[in-house]
Amino acid sequence: MNILITGTSTGIGAALAQHYLQLGHQVFGISRKKNITLAEYGAYSHQKLDLTRFSRVRKRFSSFLSPVEKLDLVILNAGILNEIKDLKDTSIEEIEEVMDINVWANKNLIDALYKLKKPVTQVAAISSGAAVSGSRGWNAYSISKAALNMIVSLYSKEHTNTHFIALAPGLIDTNMQEYICNLPDSDKYPAVRILKEARGTDKMPTPIEAAPLIANAIEQSKAYESGSFVDIRKME
Ligand SMILES: NC(=O)c1ccc[n+]([C@@H]2O[C@H](COP(=O)([O-])OP(=O)(O)OC[C@H]3O[C@@H](n4cnc5c(N)ncnc54)[C@H](OP(=O)(O)O)[C@@H]3O)[C@@H](O)[C@H]2O)c1
Repeated sequence: MNILITGTSTGIGAALAQHYLQLGHQVFGISRKKNITLAEYGAYSHQKLDLTRFSRVRKRFSSFLSPVEKLDLVILNAGILNEIKDLKDTSIEEIEEVMDINVWANKNLIDALYKLKKPVTQVAAISSGAAVSGSRGWNAYSISKAALNMIVSLYSKEHTNTHFIALAPGLIDTNMQEYICNLPDSDKYPAVRILKEARGTDKMPTPIEAAPLIANAIEQSKAYESGSFVDIRKME
């Protein structure tokens, strides 16, 4: 398969890229930093890009994907978590920064992708349980993931030859969890305590442990209606 993955320098994106490379697939990765392990695979191509530099992304995209005739899978994984705090204390500027990468970078990339006029079989956007949970403190992140789910739903009706899914991957022990689990205990944000308790247990696997499960969920998600939001923890 030809697979495009965003956010391949660390965490879930890096582990998914490695998983698919080990299975012999061709992987195209985008992130600002390079991952030295992935660089060792001949079937890995990396494009160093800040996905929020929208016009630059559009310009570079065509040459980056010129070796492929079609894309079997696109995983929109790049994203950020901003500071856990109340929405009332979160500035519009901070929300815009999160929206730029978690939402608009994905719209920009999808639009650039279809301009290439190459067939795309499946698009899986990495969403989050935060898209629907409304947990106190998850301010801009929750808003961005809810918007991402809607983008996926809308595009599924425009690009009907592609199967779209927004997938919540469950808890995975990455940089994001490192930040949350180092926060002080507080009754204000109950979800922080739940995540701290999950860390180090099988409820929060490492990215390498989670990658085959996520890859399998992406494959199984084709059974759901295109444009759906699916939480890996609730899949049959
Ligand atoms: N970990 C969890 O428990 C969990 C749960 C639910 C959902 N998720 C979602 O999973 C996805 C991956 O997160 P993670 O946990 O693996 O965190 P991570 O280790 O921080 O990875 C984030 C990735 O996004 C890339 N990225 C961020 N900003 C970028 C930009 N402007 N341009 C290009 N790439 C950018 C980063 O690469 P560079 O910094 O090199 O650019 C990095 O490769 C995110 O969408 C996150 O919301 C994670």
